[in-house]
Amino acid sequence: MSRTDEVIARAKQVLLLNYKQQPVVLVRGEGAYVWDAEGRRYLDLIAGIATCALGHCHPGVIAAAKQQLDTLWHVSNVFYSEPQIALAERLTKASGLPGARAFFCNSGAEANEALIKLARRCQRERGQKDRFEIITFEGGFHGRTLATVTATAQPKYQQGFEPLPQGFVYAPYGDLDAVKRLLGPQTAAILVEPIQGEGGVRPAPKGFLAGLQQLCAQHGLLLLLDEVQTGIGRTGKPFAFQHEGITPDAFSLAKSLGNGLPIGAMVCSDEVGKALPSGTHGSTFGGNPVTATAACATWDLATAPETMKENEAKGEHLRDLAEALKARRPERVKDVRGRGLLFGIEVDTGAADVLARCRVNGLLANLAGEKTVRFAPAYVTTREQLGEGLAIFERSL
Ligand SMILES: Cc1ncc(COP(=O)(O)O)c(C=O)c1O
Repeated sequence: MSRTDEVIARAKQVLLLNYKQQPVVLVRGEGAYVWDAEGRRYLDLIAGIATCALGHCHPGVIAAAKQQLDTLWHVSNVFYSEPQIALAERLTKASGLPGARAFFCNSGAEANEALIKLARRCQRERGQKDRFEIITFEGGFHGRTLATVTATAQPKYQQGFEPLPQGFVYAPYGDLDAVKRLLGPQTAAILVEPIQGEGGVRPAPKGFLAGLQQLCAQHGLLLLLDEVQTGIGRTGKPFAFQHEGITPDAFSLAKSLGNGLPIGAMVCSDEVGKALPSGTHGSTFGGNPVTATAACATWDLATAPETMKENEAKGEHLRDLAEALKARRPERVKDVRGRGLLFGIEVDTGAADVLARCRVNGLLANLAGEKTVRFAPAYVTTREQLGEGLAIFERSL
């Protein structure tokens, strides 16, 4: 029995069977590559799952986290610790939100949960206690807690968990008129991804986010941006909403923030942040010294201007390669979408099979929506590696 078969057999005995797992046991990673238990190497163009922004085992992040491991692992949030303050300073300064403040948690779902709680309490504090409803978008993804799965307007994630919490209504992504029709005296906020990641790597149409901001300003609503997948320099700006020249009231981060260590954040303006005073929200591990230290090291490298510029340029390179592939195989490749290093290639059918063949051929990516293969490469991925990845993808079609 191979080590892979042995590990998978053990997993099937003891793990909850909630994931559709590929028959691979990954044991080691370095940069853009990972290795399995049989010693096979894979080009990882999904970088964990859009998490390892600087690639696997980045020496700078390792050094920072190791030093912190030797110093202090964890303290309660009833005490101050410097790593999370240093991280908050970085995020708030880059955000451009007036008087910005940060709250730390451990995942994207929790960061969005904080946005939802913030919106409800903020309206209450403004004397608008009937404003509780949040507008979200079809094809979006915001997490797996009960509130965030309800914010996720995709029935497949909700089925069987009813009754779902109240207070979420859905509009087609990109459709401002549909949003206007949903507005009422109960509306509290709009929650939106600048690029729908899980929903098929769909960038918001030009002007959509600005239109939402205008509606929020007119109707006294909070504009909440889910930057869990798009944040930390991936699209060429620290946060993707910055391409649109807008300023949300609050936004969420996770995934790339800790380069693979679990950390999430909610950043908000001082005005709306006042709605969550002492005792109203919290997290045991949120802003843990080790994850916050890793996140500071990640942030400094990932949002360096030359890195972000390169991310945008590599994204264009990826687009050129994908467009050329589409021209060669128009019957199979139907669309290419994305921005910077968040990219999707839509195939006519059988995306899951393409993905499985990619893996056999030494390339890791993942599925976004029914028909789209998603790439979220680490920022250290070279143009040559992107070319190698696209060549494997083509062979796997
Ligand atoms: C846009 C977006 N929001 C939220 C989440 C949930 O994050 P987590 O799995 O860390 O809870 C994800 C995860 O894929 C995401 O892509």
